[in-house]
Amino acid sequence: MPPTVIPTLHWEGQLDGHLVLIDQTLLPTEFREISCRDVESVWEAIKVLRVRGAPAIGVAAAYGVCVGLQTALAAGESAFLDRVNHVIDYLATSRPTAVNLFWALDRMRRVVTAGRGHLSSRQLAERLLAEARAIEAEDRQTCRDLGRHGATLLTSGQGVLTHCNAGGLATADYGTALAVIFAATEAGLALQVYADETRPLLQGARLTAWELQQRGIPVTVICDSMAAQVMREGRVHAVIVGADRIAANGDAANKIGTYGVAILAAYHKIPFYVAAPASTFDFAIAAGAEIPIEHRDPREITHGFGRQTAPADVAVYNPAFDVTPASLIAGFITERGVIRPPYRENLSILQMPPKSSGVV
Ligand code: MRU
Repeated sequence: MPPTVIPTLHWEGQLDGHLVLIDQTLLPTEFREISCRDVESVWEAIKVLRVRGAPAIGVAAAYGVCVGLQTALAAGESAFLDRVNHVIDYLATSRPTAVNLFWALDRMRRVVTAGRGHLSSRQLAERLLAEARAIEAEDRQTCRDLGRHGATLLTSGQGVLTHCNAGGLATADYGTALAVIFAATEAGLALQVYADETRPLLQGARLTAWELQQRGIPVTVICDSMAAQVMREGRVHAVIVGADRIAANGDAANKIGTYGVAILAAYHKIPFYVAAPASTFDFAIAAGAEIPIEHRDPREITHGFGRQTAPADVAVYNPAFDVTPASLIAGFITERGVIRPPYRENLSILQMPPKSSGVV
C-alpha cells in the first residue's frame, strides 16, 4: 500500500492564508513543517534550500507572490500593482539556475497583465492565488504522467542509479526521476536503487534515500566517488536524474556531479535518462553554455553540516550545478512521453499544445 505522503508544500487557508512547507534542511533526522507568512521567509526558504528542486521552487515562488501581496491588498490599484511586480522581481533573485522559478513567476505576471485595469486588487489577488494553486495541481499531474511514461523503460530486477533528489520533495508530489521508480514499483517491478550521496549538501543521502525508504523501495546510498565501481560491477542498468534547466539543444543542467555520472554511464554503456517536465525546458537558450550556474557559499564545502573539514581560508570552488551535453543523454522522460534524439528537432513538441503530443 502506498504510504501517506505529506505534501512538500501547500497553501493553508484562503487569500489571507500562508505557505506551509517541509523544511528539507532538517531531513532525514527531523521532519518539520514551517509556515511562511511573508515574502522574505519564502525567499529565504528557497535560498537556503528548505524548499528545493526545480518544480518545487516554482510552486513555492508562485505562493510567495500570494504571501507578498497581502500587505498591499487594501492599497490603491497602482500601489497594489507596484507591490506585486516588486515581489515577483524579488523572488526571481532567490536562485538563478532552475528555470521553473522564472517560468512560474512569468505565469503570475501574466495574470497581472491580463487583469490590470478591469479587476479590483482583491479580484486580482484571487486570480493570483488560483494561478498558484493551478501551478501546484498541474505539477502533481505532470509528475504522475512523467512517471508512467518513464516506467516503460525499466524491467524487473534492474539497478537504477540516481543523483541528487528528484523525488516528491523536489516537486509538488511524486517527483521526476523518482516518479519513474515509484511508477515502475507500483506496476510490480522489483528495482534496486543506488543513490549518490551528492556532495556537498547530500540531497541523495538525506532526501532520496529517505523518500525511497518511506515507500519501501530498496535503496543503497553510495559516495559520489563510488559510482564508477558500482557500474563496473554490473549493478546499474539505467541512470535517471532530474534537471534544473534544459537548453533547446538538449544540454541539461542538474546538480553538480551529474555530468560526471553521465560520462561514467557512457563509458559503461548504461543508458542515461533525464526526467523533467516541459516547464524545465528553456527554449530561449540555444545551448547549455548559456545556462546560468549558481555558485554557493564556500562554507557548504569547508563546514558541511557544522564541522570544519578544510583548513581555514582555503580557496573553494562551489558551483551548485553542471551541464550534461545532450550527446550523453539517451532520452528525456517528460509528461508528453520519452523524447529521443535528434533533440533540437524532437524537443520542439514540448512547445506545442498538449493535444499534439506523443512519444517520439
Ligand atoms: O540544489 P537543489 O537541491 O535545488 O538541486 C536540485 C536538483 O539538482 C534536482 O535534481 C533538480 O532540481 C530536479 S528536481 C525534480
